[in-house]
Amino acid sequence: MIDTLRELEATALRELNAIEDEEGLERWRVQYLGKKGAVTQTLRGLGALPPEERPAVGQAANALRDKLEAEFAQRQKRLLEMAAQRALSAERIDVTLPGREVSLGQIHPLTSTLNEILNIFVMMGFQVVEGPEVEWDYYNFEALNIPPNHPARDMWDTFYVDADHRVGEMLLRTHTSPNQVRVMEKTRPPVRVVVPGKCYRYEAVDASHEAMFYQVEGLAVDEGITLADLKGVLTSFAHLMFGRDRRVRFRCDYFPFVEPGAEMAVECWVCRGQGCRLCKNTGWIEIMGAGMVHPRVLERVGYDPSIYTGFAFGMGPERVAMLRYGIDDIRLFYGNDLRFLRQFR
Ligand code: DAH
Repeated sequence: MIDTLRELEATALRELNAIEDEEGLERWRVQYLGKKGAVTQTLRGLGALPPEERPAVGQAANALRDKLEAEFAQRQKRLLEMAAQRALSAERIDVTLPGREVSLGQIHPLTSTLNEILNIFVMMGFQVVEGPEVEWDYYNFEALNIPPNHPARDMWDTFYVDADHRVGEMLLRTHTSPNQVRVMEKTRPPVRVVVPGKCYRYEAVDASHEAMFYQVEGLAVDEGITLADLKGVLTSFAHLMFGRDRRVRFRCDYFPFVEPGAEMAVECWVCRGQGCRLCKNTGWIEIMGAGMVHPRVLERVGYDPSIYTGFAFGMGPERVAMLRYGIDDIRLFYGNDLRFLRQFR
């Protein structure tokens, strides 16, 4: 009888451990521990045994029931845990996954160059002002000593708002110089301003010419301003912008609104003056026009040229940016090509 119980235990436990679900578990409980189950039957059948065997078999059967109940509870717990584990791994969120990159915008290389240029002049005491892009012929030309039909107008062909009445009408400004006059009309000396802004020209667009581009105008008027001030301020600018060791060159040039007029060049920073493709083998790169404000321009705004003198300059920030970054085509600035722009992060 004891052997039968041992066999029963072995079978019951083997079966129990193979069970994977609730129903199997219940079937097993009924089969072994239920009212009509094997263990209960054994206990019930005790009475049929010879009296001397009863205690031992009874004890063994009780022990077996306790053991199976305990194992049952274990298995039940284990199955619950396994189910919970399955549910967890099915719903698992991998929090270690790196987040999606947020693509941030960036400052356009031309804007950052423009900001640097303005900062340098602000540091030297200049004020930043702006003026209209659609300008009167008067400010763009006449007030700058460029009368109607003067051949100098050929230097600045533009888009006219009314093509039939060119002179005296509105146009897209060809330079920021009209703001020299606009500023002086509104203020008395001392004047120290820089004027950034877009300009327009009727251009055949190529690697170095755009129909729309930027300029930064500068103007300083006061008593006793001389060409030495022009050279000092612009040389300091070049040193701050391009480096202390950079040589600069001033040469005579002609602009109707200045006398004398000059063009300023900086030592080429690719070849350091040796001559290369970028500087067309000259060793120099022109970055702006400049000069002493023409007495007629001063007179027109009511400044007495026998008391006041001043210098003016106009530079192309695209030029400055191209030279700084080694960009060889001005059209890249306005192409909206992210492959180009991302290089300037
Ligand atoms: N406005 C001129 C141009 O667009 C550049 C220039 C030259 C500006 C001499 C100046 C200046 O203020 O003094 O070609």
